[in-house]
Amino acid sequence: MPSSSAPIATAVTASANSSAPVGIFDSGLGGLSVLRAVRAQLPDEAILYVADSLYAPYGERDDDFIADRTLAIGEWLVRQGAKALVVACNTATAQSIALVREKLAIPLIGVEPGVKPAALQSKTRVAGVLATQVTLRSARFQALLERYAADCRFLCQPGHGLVQAVERCDVDSAELRALLRGYLEPMLEAGADTLVLGCTHYPFLDAAIRDIVGDRLTLIDTSVAIARQLERVLEQNGLRAAHDDATRALPRFYSTGDGTHQQQLVATLLEIDAVVEPVVIRSRRAATPDSQAA
Ligand code: DGL
Repeated sequence: MPSSSAPIATAVTASANSSAPVGIFDSGLGGLSVLRAVRAQLPDEAILYVADSLYAPYGERDDDFIADRTLAIGEWLVRQGAKALVVACNTATAQSIALVREKLAIPLIGVEPGVKPAALQSKTRVAGVLATQVTLRSARFQALLERYAADCRFLCQPGHGLVQAVERCDVDSAELRALLRGYLEPMLEAGADTLVLGCTHYPFLDAAIRDIVGDRLTLIDTSVAIARQLERVLEQNGLRAAHDDATRALPRFYSTGDGTHQQQLVATLLEIDAVVEPVVIRSRRAATPDSQAA
């Protein structure tokens, strides 16, 4: 479920202007599943979307790296005038939302795997959770699990290889299906009736997952709940765009990578013929081969 908190004033100042855009950020293309829900829920909001594709996937990166990238991109979005930030990445939220909250002076919305709705819905009391390794091992996720695992068994499976597949727009290949089968069949054998999609990339694998599990698993995707949470947070802060703000313009898409796959996914998924603008967002931490590349 999404989480949010009041902003804490810091070095990075923000424009509290209701016609300013909402910033949405992910390690790559996964946050587009959240953007889709936000556009449906809040059609008057202007959106800036950043895919940190140069560094995706985050799920196998170290904790400092993820916190550093999340903060650098959050600060960049604030400098572009974002009035609120959706960290549309479970991995980045799990790893760095507390730090980013301390540093950014705009309302933040993080995401976390839908363990709570799964615990509420599962009839067999066995639910699968597919998420990145970093999300699953994070203290934040472990605390979430503890809260709901008393009478529901959660089978937690790192989705190695899945983010990479979506990043190259592979949502359908035989290799991808074999990977998914390897993750999902043990869950079915263990009696699971619910599957938490604990990474924002995974809703794009919905059809491939359905082909394997049919109706045996109810899929939990929190993107609509995230959009509703964003709506509440904007309301609370007096930041909802007015209906006549003429902000129905297309979202602006940025990528730290070459943007080709982003353009492709945006076209097929959102039916938007978008231009993806390349952007360099430097990491703050000491130069590494990766951060030099940025
Ligand atoms: N969409 C990100 C998430 O929700 C993917 C993380 C990654 O890049 O591994 O966790």
